[in-house]
Amino acid sequence: MKGIILAGGRGTRLYPTTKVVSKQLLPIYDKPLIYYPLSILLFAGIKDILIISTPDDIKQYSDLLGDGKKLGINFYYKIQEEPHGLAEAFILGEEFIGDDDVCLVLGDNVFYGALLPELLQKVIKSKNKATIFAYPVANPKDFGVVEFDDKGNVLSLEEKPKEPKSKYAVPGLYFYDNSVIEIAKNVKPSPRGELEITAVNNEYLKRKELKVEVFSRGVAWLDTGTPYNMLKAGSFVETLQSRQGIYVACLEEIAWRKGFINDEQLRKIGEELKQTDYGKYILSLLEED
Ligand code: TTP
Repeated sequence: MKGIILAGGRGTRLYPTTKVVSKQLLPIYDKPLIYYPLSILLFAGIKDILIISTPDDIKQYSDLLGDGKKLGINFYYKIQEEPHGLAEAFILGEEFIGDDDVCLVLGDNVFYGALLPELLQKVIKSKNKATIFAYPVANPKDFGVVEFDDKGNVLSLEEKPKEPKSKYAVPGLYFYDNSVIEIAKNVKPSPRGELEITAVNNEYLKRKELKVEVFSRGVAWLDTGTPYNMLKAGSFVETLQSRQGIYVACLEEIAWRKGFINDEQLRKIGEELKQTDYGKYILSLLEED
């Protein structure tokens, strides 16, 4: 399975901050926002990851993340000329995806929960053609909303409905089989001129191939699209890290626990960052039994 992370967009809700800086590079407490969705791909065991961003920003992502070898994985980069919509990821990523299945995660979505790695493994093993997730929210009108039966079969999907049929929003994490490339190519732009991910999901729904997994109470999904939500996400991470002493989305730790890198490789990264709490945390992992 391949992974794609969308780190472009306009970020207009965060202006003026994002006028010259890409949203996904902004810090959520102690690390760039993109680390959080990246951690999800690593937890899913995905080692080939395409990072898509704007012509202006793509270099900054490659400067930050490199080729991935330090983490025992591979990062690839692709420019999206204009924010034409989420579904364009599969057209831009066609060559990268090849004959594989693919997981798309939005670069501004933060997920956290002890049960999440298990859930991701379950989805990958299920071999479903398309799996999306559902998360109960107080303001479903602001999201894509999914209605489903007790077997996880999707009944309806609506983008920002005036009268939501359920309280379940669809987070920015999607698993598809290879036919997503053809499906995305056939999506027509919406009235706002974007290739909508909801159109892709609706095509799978029409084919009776769309499944939904509900995030349980133990999983948190945070959107970081506005200044207030960014602050809330940052303080959530700070609280977890300082109370539990366990880091959220420490990519080096996940790569090490997954066996992508060994003790020596982890130590080297920790040494380079040892003037920071982040580096000290990495080194402390090696002192565990
Ligand atoms: P959005 O939050 O929908 O859009 P945005 O980031 O441009 O922000 P705003 O609404 O404030 O202008 O995008 C969700 C995520 O997807 C975000 O991480 C940016 C990314 N994205 C792309 O990379 N390409 C696209 O064409 C779109 C629409 C979004």
